[in-house]
Amino acid sequence: MSLFRILKSTGLLRWRTEWRKHTGREHSTLEVDPRWRERARHFRSPPMTQELVHAIARISPQFHLRPTATSRSFWELSQNGSCWGEYDALEPLLTRMAAPGKVLEVGCGLGRSAVFFKKALPWKESTFHLYDADGPRIHYPRTGERSERTFCGDLQALREVLAYNEVENVEVFDARKLDNRLDGLPGPYDLVYSFYAAGFHWSLADFWDELEGLIHDNSIGIFTIHRNFETFPQLSGVASRMVTFERSLIKDHPHRMLVISRNEALLRPLDEATPPA
Ligand SMILES: C[S@@+](CC[C@H](N)C(=O)[O-])C[C@H]1O[C@@H](n2cnc3c(N)ncnc32)[C@H](O)[C@@H]1O
Repeated sequence: MSLFRILKSTGLLRWRTEWRKHTGREHSTLEVDPRWRERARHFRSPPMTQELVHAIARISPQFHLRPTATSRSFWELSQNGSCWGEYDALEPLLTRMAAPGKVLEVGCGLGRSAVFFKKALPWKESTFHLYDADGPRIHYPRTGERSERTFCGDLQALREVLAYNEVENVEVFDARKLDNRLDGLPGPYDLVYSFYAAGFHWSLADFWDELEGLIHDNSIGIFTIHRNFETFPQLSGVASRMVTFERSLIKDHPHRMLVISRNEALLRPLDEATPPA
């Protein structure tokens, strides 16, 4: 057994990360699961300025970063680790589907997933619409209706991260200008996804009627869901699968994604890896 596995099994690595969190110490790449260290870093972090530190702190309050090269390395590696975990779990689906013409990401944060998908897959030409809004407040009700206090994004920082990564065919939509609703977006979309946003921090059921108007019969939807996620009546109108995925930090436990489509055949590649939900 490797030293890493021994430390992990004894809980020492988790304890070290918790200690860092409570003392507010800067993170290091040692806290990222080693499985991601050798994988390509499709998502690139710009130099870690104080403004970027603040933008990340609003979206990921669990991170303690500073405007240093250490924090930049940690953030870049952890973001790519998150993306690889999702990608690996979805690979049978993503690598077999046709490149989507139009993609919507709901709650894109600082754009890690859009950058990653565009670079890891032959999706350079796909049009991505990224929907989020500026906001200082975080309200995570998980059930019920959205409130005005949920947005914690930074659209200026998002645009800077996208420019730094030199991705094309990406358009940012300010949710506040759309009255905090999805139905003003120019759908339909071939792929709609929301990682750690609709379905995770906020009720997917609350978004559902708006989402339904944005998808067609062959669209795919992918949503990170929280541990206590419960199905809701409108979900019976689509085919679905649950997919478990690994996360970026050593201390993290796996989470699940809900994958949906009106066309059940499109979801079958996922059955190779996971049994039907
Ligand atoms: C935890 S972050 C996740 C960011 C990104 N998807 C990721 O995985 O790194 C949640 C994001 O959802 C956004 N958000 C908050 N309320 C929202 C809403 N009502 N609709 C869409 N996005 C929302 C926040 O502003 C924030 O950027």
